[in-house]
Amino acid sequence: MPRMYDFLLYGAGQLLTCSNPGKGPKRGKSLSDAGILNDGAIAVSEGTIVEIGTRGEVERAVGSTPVARTFDAGGRVVMPGWVDPHTHAVFSRYRADEYEARIRGEGYLDIERRGGGIKRTVREVRAMSEERLFEVSRRRLAKILEGGTTTIEIKSGYGLDLETELKMLRVIARLGKELPLDVVASFMGAHQKPQESAGADGYVRLVIDEMIPAVAREGLAEFVDVFCERGVFTLEETEAILAAASAHGLGLKIHADEITPQGGAELAARLGARSAEHLTKISPAGVDALASSDTIAVLLPGTTFGLASRDFAPAREMIDRGVAVALATDFNPGSAPSCSMPFAVAVACSQMRMTPAEAVNAATINAAFAVGRGGRIGSLEKGKQADVVVYDVEDYREIPSRPGANHAVVVVKAGAVAWERPAFETASEVGL
Ligand code: NIG
Ligand code: FE
Repeated sequence: MPRMYDFLLYGAGQLLTCSNPGKGPKRGKSLSDAGILNDGAIAVSEGTIVEIGTRGEVERAVGSTPVARTFDAGGRVVMPGWVDPHTHAVFSRYRADEYEARIRGEGYLDIERRGGGIKRTVREVRAMSEERLFEVSRRRLAKILEGGTTTIEIKSGYGLDLETELKMLRVIARLGKELPLDVVASFMGAHQKPQESAGADGYVRLVIDEMIPAVAREGLAEFVDVFCERGVFTLEETEAILAAASAHGLGLKIHADEITPQGGAELAARLGARSAEHLTKISPAGVDALASSDTIAVLLPGTTFGLASRDFAPAREMIDRGVAVALATDFNPGSAPSCSMPFAVAVACSQMRMTPAEAVNAATINAAFAVGRGGRIGSLEKGKQADVVVYDVEDYREIPSRPGANHAVVVVKAGAVAWERPAFETASEVGL
């Protein structure tokens, strides 16, 4: 029993625990259970949840032990912080002109071919000082936190040379140190082949022989990700790069089957990758391969939306066949400029027909497993880090059904209030 509690929260109309008694990621029917407690309460000590249950249960357990801050949720919804397991959040500036070009009918790969897309951001990121890149990214992450995201994965991949990739990864590491968010770094030197790369496999060799060893030596990434796509990295190149990643003790991720089916999902399952991401063009064999593996399928409905496309990943089929599905924003300057997890959840529900409970679990507990943090975050359970968000709604299904406004009012990271909307009680509809 702690001598003092940092935090006691009670009065949650719905407390979504998103916990999975089996401890692994949720699949199938268990994805439909958000673990809702009515009149829920949580007690936190040293950043960790030490009691969770109904108000009566938690108050009895706390007894007369002093509490530093008591918080009445006033009937609002309380949830785990969102875990965004796929972003490219460190970049120069948005490419909103490409958004209009896509609406007018230009394809993603056409824009790439005329020097836009990733190439354009690479030119800008190479030219930017590390300090400016950090500062613009820091401001972005501060906004992301206000939406209730408490953990974010960030990929490099706008450098495509050793020096700039390391610059991006140092910025990513510093973001994690200076902001109240857990930041997970993935090295994605294999995001594209740079324009200056000479021979067909010269760049792949550079990634394998120089970049991955340097990234591993400096401890700057936990994962290596490859964009496995026609005209980008082949299946064979992807496998060679990921073999080097494994040899250096790094986890594996693949941008798989996004624009054309390449067998990326099958490769991810065969290599025991932590995740296969995008998957809008996954084949039935790919779905089966993921269903019988531990690889998490990270789906990115905000990208389909941002590309003005209708090609959503077949989430229903995946869930019904037993794939462990997670959701992410893919936040980046081009294809997916929305950094909002509630928006990704909303699009997942209305366009991929995920139920609100499935989407919430996919964006919390399963997303935590997609970044190798499932034992520590992603659900509200005794012993887990207290990453908790209070939403100014009565029913959690209002989060996806009422997109476009930020309903978060209090964001708690590791037991400390990281952001709070000023005077939200007096402006609230809840409880009136
Ligand atoms: O995940 N698919 C490849 N890469 C990114 C796009 C990044 C960008 O357009 O800048 C993605 O969508
Ligand atoms: Fe991506």
